[in-house]
Amino acid sequence: MEHGGNIFAAAVAFGGSPEDYLDFSSNVNPLGPPVGVLEKISSALPYLSRYPDPEYRDLCWAVADYLGVKQDWLFPGNGTAELIYLLVCALGLRRVLIVEPTFSEYARAVEAHGGQVKRVFLAAPEFEPRAELIRTQLDGVEALFICHPNNPTGKVWPAEELALLVEETGKRGVLLIVDEAFIDFLTPEEIKSLSAKKFLGRFRHLILLYSLTKFFGLAGLRIGFLIASPEILARLKRVAPPWRVNLLAQLAGVEAVKDHAYQTLTRELVSKEKAFLERELGRLPGFEVLPGQANFLLVRVEGTGKTAGEWTASLARRRILVRDASNFLGLDPYYIRVAVRKREDNLRLLAACKEVGKEYGL
Ligand SMILES: Cc1ncc(COP(=O)(O)O)c(C=O)c1O
Repeated sequence: MEHGGNIFAAAVAFGGSPEDYLDFSSNVNPLGPPVGVLEKISSALPYLSRYPDPEYRDLCWAVADYLGVKQDWLFPGNGTAELIYLLVCALGLRRVLIVEPTFSEYARAVEAHGGQVKRVFLAAPEFEPRAELIRTQLDGVEALFICHPNNPTGKVWPAEELALLVEETGKRGVLLIVDEAFIDFLTPEEIKSLSAKKFLGRFRHLILLYSLTKFFGLAGLRIGFLIASPEILARLKRVAPPWRVNLLAQLAGVEAVKDHAYQTLTRELVSKEKAFLERELGRLPGFEVLPGQANFLLVRVEGTGKTAGEWTASLARRRILVRDASNFLGLDPYYIRVAVRKREDNLRLLAACKEVGKEYGL
């Protein structure tokens, strides 16, 4: 499977119905959407025959306020994934640099539009992002994609490394595209010091990708943003279709970012459960957990003598989905990625892993 969260394909491959699967393969808030979002959506159902606001006014005001960026720097889309394709198309990006292992859609979008991808591979097992590794690779490149925190490693760019990268790409006239789809899982203090948001305005070659689907549990509804200077956004507007964010999603976005209690609860839950999972998974024979800063864990299973594919299939037969991460470029066949969920779910995962381990004679 190309991405996590495909409970539909799992049901076809391993039986049962999609709802039977406990999904650790997509990195979405285990609390589900904020309650206010569900109420808002229910009350809006009688209005489904209306077109949504094609200017996304309320949504952009609310999200601009939440992120502390200017409203006219926001460009909404039907999830960040859509915006990656739109960006590549609108700016005609033909030669890009990608830091692997990372989310596969940057490369797919560029190649789908006839462009070429150059890659830098970060070294296992640390996968530490360093500006030095990248600055030597920028010749002839129009844009650099980085993912922050990175999927699948959970690694964040240290503030000083990111600052170096921003300056270096700016000097060379290379666009810097920073995907912050998972940034909200950091603490507000970490976001303040680490997010590339603080460079917007001063560095106009910077483009941010931001998503409401992960942190706000709205993956099925689809809401993402591209954040860039109005000059860059004007180029996107020329090719973008209208009504990219539907009526329900626009209302949901406004409600979601207002709910501060939900945001705090999410951070508390994920932090506590991540520590729990990290510790307990690390105790399983042959498992090695690689620390990261997002709401998921990259786990090396080589010590079990079985591949990620074998683990994924054995768990799926028990109706538990984890992400076989072996199709991330730069990872060998021994990595799985596990999302942090609520305690009862995490206990089910651990019990299933122990059962599979016994089956494997561990
Ligand atoms: C790093 C990263 N960026 C973007 C996306 C796409 O997010 P969205 O749901 O907003 O399209 C994903 C989805 O897995 C992702 O991992």
